[in-house]
Amino acid sequence: MSNSKFIRIAEVIEQKIESGEFPPSSKLPTHRLLAEDLKTTPATVAKAYKLLSDKGCLESFIGRGTFVRASSKLDKAIQATDQETDFNFSILQPCLEKNLSALKSAYKQAAELLTPSVIGYAEHSGHKAHREAGIKWVNKYGLKGATEENILLTNGAQHALSLIIETITKPGDTILVEQLTYPGILAIANLSNRRVVGVELDEYGLCPNALSSAIDEYSPTMIITIPSHQNPTGISMPESRKKEIAKIINEKKIWLVEDDIYCFLDDEPVAPIANFAPDYTFHISSLSKAISPAMRCGYLKSPDSQVTALNASIRTNIWLASPINFIVATLLIESGDAFQIATQQRIIANERQKMVREIYPSIEFNSSGYHIWLPLPEHWQPDRFAMEAKSRGIIITSGSYFCANNKSTKYIRLSLMSIGSKERLRDGLHELQKLLHSDLNSFFPY
Ligand SMILES: Cc1ncc(COP(=O)(O)O)c(C=O)c1O
Repeated sequence: MSNSKFIRIAEVIEQKIESGEFPPSSKLPTHRLLAEDLKTTPATVAKAYKLLSDKGCLESFIGRGTFVRASSKLDKAIQATDQETDFNFSILQPCLEKNLSALKSAYKQAAELLTPSVIGYAEHSGHKAHREAGIKWVNKYGLKGATEENILLTNGAQHALSLIIETITKPGDTILVEQLTYPGILAIANLSNRRVVGVELDEYGLCPNALSSAIDEYSPTMIITIPSHQNPTGISMPESRKKEIAKIINEKKIWLVEDDIYCFLDDEPVAPIANFAPDYTFHISSLSKAISPAMRCGYLKSPDSQVTALNASIRTNIWLASPINFIVATLLIESGDAFQIATQQRIIANERQKMVREIYPSIEFNSSGYHIWLPLPEHWQPDRFAMEAKSRGIIITSGSYFCANNKSTKYIRLSLMSIGSKERLRDGLHELQKLLHSDLNSFFPY
């Protein structure tokens, strides 16, 4: 029990941060003072502070003390760690070791292709050859209608999302999202003062009826959906559901953002919603999940009517996405290597999905692509579970970071891809299983 006291203290502090009682940049009491208050030892308080610092909630400065770190939920949901001893289940990225040699050789080749024109300023929509490669990438996974004009180069999908939100909507506007969604979308809305409203999901994704009613009730400017291998629920929309959503979009004449970053994980391409509602849909894809997030290469197909506005925003914000990385992207796409790498990652993901089903045979959960959406036993609450796991060197993402409507959820998200070796993944899943089965939480009946 004493081993977990610091977790309990950390939890209380985190709740105070969440509620605003401890605002960003405020100073926390010294270890000694808080220990006196809580009738514990300074060492226990120090452990609680360390846990919260590792989680990105606090930061300490020698001689000045410990402060609440100004951070978004996104930082907490996705925790990059350098500690190889950790089992990190929080990052949705490809198995990078597998892609390293192809990337090294493409960057070497790219170095030979640098010319004064490539290393200079280019027009905001980037070089023609790089946009043509983007068309090949999106065509392969079923998108129709991409042209050299309407395909834009972005610094990854996150940039595309913020670009669209900033350009197409205004502060105070309402955006409809899936009731459980990628925290990066919630973070952009929060930062830019857009209101988000979550729309119900069923086993096929966004519910058409709920979507129609929410459009009538909230008069949103935009809807954002992740149709394939949805983050976090793992749901994929079949084509029939995509057509239903497209019908609503066309009838109500409302903007749709289709974040299709996981589409390459489908065994056979499923036509995106953009094919059925091209005048209103912004279709986003990126190489982050198939090849490497560090390349920051995204492709955004815009409705023709919005191309000029988006290009102007790109010019204002970043001038242009780095052509140097797009040389590499283009080499990989033109040679076919990009597609092979994507297929290999899909195969790895499928193997790992099989492994997790073997290890957790008695739990019913949604699993798809790179991750699983795991329900917790009744006695566990996801934030507390995440903290307890973290103290054991297991990093998972609490379901609470994905809730658009601030409703509670009893789930956690586990990436199956951020641990490089299969054996370590297996060990990590077993370690996590011990915690799932432990009734440690019952010591704290509040
Ligand atoms: C649904 C979704 N969209 C966008 C992103 C960000 O992608 P990128 O690295 O291309 O910016 C992620 C990353 O996890 C994601 O899950």
